[in-house]
Amino acid sequence: MSENLEEIASENKIVVRDLMKVYKRGQKEVIALRGVDFEVSQGEFLSIVGPSGSGKSTLLKLLGALDKPTAGIVLYDGHSVTMLDDRRAMLYRRQKVGFIWQVGNLVPGLTALKNVTLPMKLAGAPSKISDTRARMLLDTMGLGPRVEHKPNQMSGGENQRTAICVALANNPELLLGDEITGELDSETTEMVMQALKMTNEEFGTTVINVTHNPTVAKYADRVLRIRDGLIEGQKHTLYGDITEIDAKGRMVIPETMRQLAGIKKRVVLRATSEGLLVSPLKTDDENNDNQATQ
Ligand SMILES: Nc1ncnc2c1ncn2[C@@H]1O[C@H](COP(=O)(O)OP(=O)(O)OP(=O)(O)O)[C@@H](O)[C@H]1O
Ligand SMILES: [Mg+2]
Repeated sequence: MSENLEEIASENKIVVRDLMKVYKRGQKEVIALRGVDFEVSQGEFLSIVGPSGSGKSTLLKLLGALDKPTAGIVLYDGHSVTMLDDRRAMLYRRQKVGFIWQVGNLVPGLTALKNVTLPMKLAGAPSKISDTRARMLLDTMGLGPRVEHKPNQMSGGENQRTAICVALANNPELLLGDEITGELDSETTEMVMQALKMTNEEFGTTVINVTHNPTVAKYADRVLRIRDGLIEGQKHTLYGDITEIDAKGRMVIPETMRQLAGIKKRVVLRATSEGLLVSPLKTDDENNDNQATQ
């Protein structure tokens, strides 16, 4: 790779390179992300859109260190998020990131106020300070009169705006939203999106919001389209890796790469103008080979 990653990282809040995620379910594998590249600048509002199953939630989980990629990197302020151990990943989530999900992350038995103070309590903030901040956040979202209401005593839009306050409680630099307006009518959707836009503008919070809805996507500074685990319109090598060749000419091809290329036991080698092309041997030959060795 010829780009200067350090320089790109110094100019962007987030840098994503060659991000891949393969889910394993027993013997079956699902490639959710096939090598995604993009950057997000400080204070940007980014929308991620794409058909169902295209990898949007997977991408968001990797950005939020809720899961580990199969390959590739996420740099946040120039530091790798993907390499964090469990404890550091937890600290990154707690200190830097606020999450909002489609089905709100509210505790049903707690009032709006208690829901918003909860993450601050967990982070060790004194109750007086967390109470004042929670009221301020709820007020900014137009929920002043609802502070003592529990989730089932509020509308869908009020619940989602409370959920935004919960996500903002510990003053995160990054807000990740996944289909947060998925279950709301168009009027309420507008209200929630305006609240999110205001958060972005007033607090300078970087926002990455996943949505199916084109009206919701238009609130963003930029829209990223994802399809079949790749960013649309992006020229991309499916997946790149470095491997060594020993003195006898033996090369180790990492498992993920073999899976992506459909390579089993034997391959065909061709010298091309681009370099060496390693392709799977035709299935028939492979089957015959397997039978021969059984
Ligand atoms: N934990 C998992 N185990 C196995 N496969 C998974 C897992 N999570 C997601 N997948 C698969 O990975 C692919 C991408 O899923 P993802 O949830 O990221 O899609 P999405 O774009 O968020 O879809 P939607 O718009 O429906 O929410 C899908 O084929 C999905 O079935
Ligand atoms: Mg999803």
